Amino acid sequence: MTKKIIGAVIGLAILFGVYGFVYAINHNKIAIGYNAGYEPVQPIQYSHKLHAGKLGIDCKYCHTTSEVSRHASVPPLNVCMNCHILVRQVNGKDSPEIAKLVEAYENNKPVEWYKVNLLPDHVKFNHSMHIKRGKDCQTCHGPVQEMDIVKQQESLSMGWCVNCHRQPENNAPTNCTTCHY
Ligand code: HEC
Ligand code: HEC
Ligand code: HEC
Ligand code: HEC
Ligand code: HEC
Repeated sequence: MTKKIIGAVIGLAILFGVYGFVYAINHNKIAIGYNAGYEPVQPIQYSHKLHAGKLGIDCKYCHTTSEVSRHASVPPLNVCMNCHILVRQVNGKDSPEIAKLVEAYENNKPVEWYKVNLLPDHVKFNHSMHIKRGKDCQTCHGPVQEMDIVKQQESLSMGWCVNCHRQPENNAPTNCTTCHY
């Protein structure tokens, strides 16, 4: 009897273990080292190299809140539809990737983009403070306008943040409560 219970407990533990692992992978919560170079394949093959590079669309056209808030925000589909209401083809052929976008938009389904850069919840970070002090997006995100798939450029470790705050020209605070609650 006790053997059965122990067996059941072990079985359940394994089950939850596997579930937790799969959940973590699906939600991009697994931290291997500090994740620099992390480059998840997105549900729609949207390319920054094409849009921000070749077409030259300004970063803030889509990431509208980067100057005013903590989060830079990923654009809702109606921003994409400003152009894709008309643009449906690439090289004279219907693009299946644009078709996915239009279908999601028409059915009111948000696209579940994978988060690339992610700090732990106990860290305070704010885009607007940095933008106001003249740090451009590429300082921290690298040459996004050359990336077909966005990848995490920097480690986003505490050492990386503090190192920049310490530079005399930045004159940024380094006491613990700057970045921790
Ligand atoms: C036409 C709209 C558009 C423009 C313009 C644009 N982006 Fe994006 N950006 C997106 C979308 C959609 C995503 C989410 C999908 C992805 O990661 O590719 C994204 C994701 C990102 C991410 C990753 C977010 C995360 O989860 O960590 C970064 C960083 C980023 N963009 C920076 C930039 C920079 C820098 C520029 C300008 C050089 C720029 N973007 C221009 C639409 C845009
Ligand atoms: C000082 C470094 C730094 C600069 C400058 C910076 N970012 Fe970020 N960005 C980050 C960090 C760190 C995160 C992760 C934030 C988190 O998880 O709370 C992030 C996250 C993002 C995200 C994902 C959504 C979010 O806010 O969590 C997008 C999109 C993004 N940045 C776009 C931009 C764009 C566009 C610019 C320029 C206008 C920019 N960033 C400038 C460091 C920076
Ligand atoms: C300012 C106009 C504009 C905006 C805004 C815009 N796009 Fe595009 N997009 C284009 C153009 C133009 C093309 C076709 C380029 C070509 O012919 O090579 C394109 C092509 C594409 C493709 C096709 C890639 C392929 O090879 O099949 C996808 C997917 C796409 N865009 C997704 C998006 C998403 C997602 C957004 C919103 C985050 C967005 N676009 C916002 C203009 C725009
Ligand atoms: C490229 C340099 C650079 C990097 C990298 C950087 N910061 Fe900053 N940070 C600054 C500057 C400059 C300021 C503005 C200081 C000011 O004007 O008060 C600032 C301000 C801040 C503030 C606001 C401080 C206040 O005055 O209340 C916080 C919070 C912050 N940074 C957190 C972070 C975190 C967390 C990271 C890493 C994920 C980070 N920073 C990475 C340069 C940087
Ligand atoms: C400029 C921003 C910044 C400052 C200042 C800062 N931290 Fe951090 N801290 C971070 C970031 C970002 C992380 C998450 C990444 C990492 O673990 O390296 C972190 C992580 C940590 C962790 C690890 C928590 C964990 O999950 O393992 C501890 C502990 C910590 N900080 C303590 C401190 C103490 C103590 C100070 C003051 C001496 C301090 N921090 C100052 C940005 C900062």
